[in-house]
Amino acid sequence: MNDLLALDPYQAIEAPLPDSGDARLKAMLAWALLSPSPHNTQPWSWSIKDGVIDLHADYARQLTVSDPDGRELTIGCGSSLEHLLLRLGQEGVGVTVEEFPDPDDPRHLARVSVGVGTPYPRHDDLVTAMGARRTNRRSYSGDPMEAALRTALDEAAREFGVTVTWVSEADLRKALVRLIMASDREQMESKEFRHELAHWMRPKHSRKDDGMESDLLGQKGVAAYVAPLVVRTFDVGDAQAAKDQQLTEGSPDIAVLSTDSDDAAARLATGRALARVVLTAMAGGRYSAYMNQPCEVPTSRAKLAALLGVAHPQLVLRFGHAEPVHPALRFPVAQVLAD
Ligand SMILES: Cc1cc2nc3c(=O)[nH]c(=O)nc-3n(C[C@H](O)[C@H](O)[C@H](O)COP(=O)(O)O)c2cc1C
Repeated sequence: MNDLLALDPYQAIEAPLPDSGDARLKAMLAWALLSPSPHNTQPWSWSIKDGVIDLHADYARQLTVSDPDGRELTIGCGSSLEHLLLRLGQEGVGVTVEEFPDPDDPRHLARVSVGVGTPYPRHDDLVTAMGARRTNRRSYSGDPMEAALRTALDEAAREFGVTVTWVSEADLRKALVRLIMASDREQMESKEFRHELAHWMRPKHSRKDDGMESDLLGQKGVAAYVAPLVVRTFDVGDAQAAKDQQLTEGSPDIAVLSTDSDDAAARLATGRALARVVLTAMAGGRYSAYMNQPCEVPTSRAKLAALLGVAHPQLVLRFGHAEPVHPALRFPVAQVLAD
């Protein structure tokens, strides 16, 4: 059993599970850990006792420069929570979910009581998609999604009060690309931003279990090894902006997820919607990646809100077909399980 909790979650989801009890629930956390998170920080801590699962935000892993108030951290945790709930849905057991169960502890994001309440809706296709989903930062090809798939993504997000705005019209897309490029330049001008990014960049075949490997960020050959140094040392804003322009303009589908408020509950809901959206896209054969910079730079975020006529843009996503990429690094369950 302990061996199972020490495995890379991508291997753990292929292994047989313990029959019942907390041991089974702990093993099922492997699916939660496959969730995306900002810079692959995996900013969550889980505990399980007597069928009660608690999720806490781990602020020690916060990106204090690009995410100073923990908005994206909470989104990542919401996504991880949704992964777990979808996996529990396959068990057919009752679950009761309380978000922010302790008014005195805002880091306590959720409590899931297993065996109480009605089963979570079953979506086998989405659970299968967890093993295949990647943030694939390559160029995308293909036609825009068929209407039914777009509608499925819209409805998945709406369940959580999150709106999906498709950026298809040419002028709107151009304006979004300009905002992405301006945000790239502004972020990369900041030495603190570059240091933080470099801190989470890893060489290919890194032995660490967090952060982003250079090859997954699109660096090849020698560049993959010197990339953190380059990012740390030089303002590469123009190069980043040009690359993001090309990737965004070439993507068959671009969508912005937004909410009516921007409190912690809305951010957790955005994370749950994000999981549903990117897993539904993956189940439909589409990779996803992020162009989130305009949501991270406050002046750009206000412009993006005005451009789309939405209150609080939370995430900018692109979707399409692409060459596959390998899975990103992950902590084993044992690492994120508090006693
Ligand atoms: C809230 C949030 C924001 C993210 N922002 C970006 C981003 O701006 N650019 C990017 O390339 N990836 C972004 N990501 C993707 C993460 O880097 C990715 O999930 C992580 O490296 C793990 O890789 P995986 O998604 O392939 O498992 C974001 C993920 C989350 C949850």
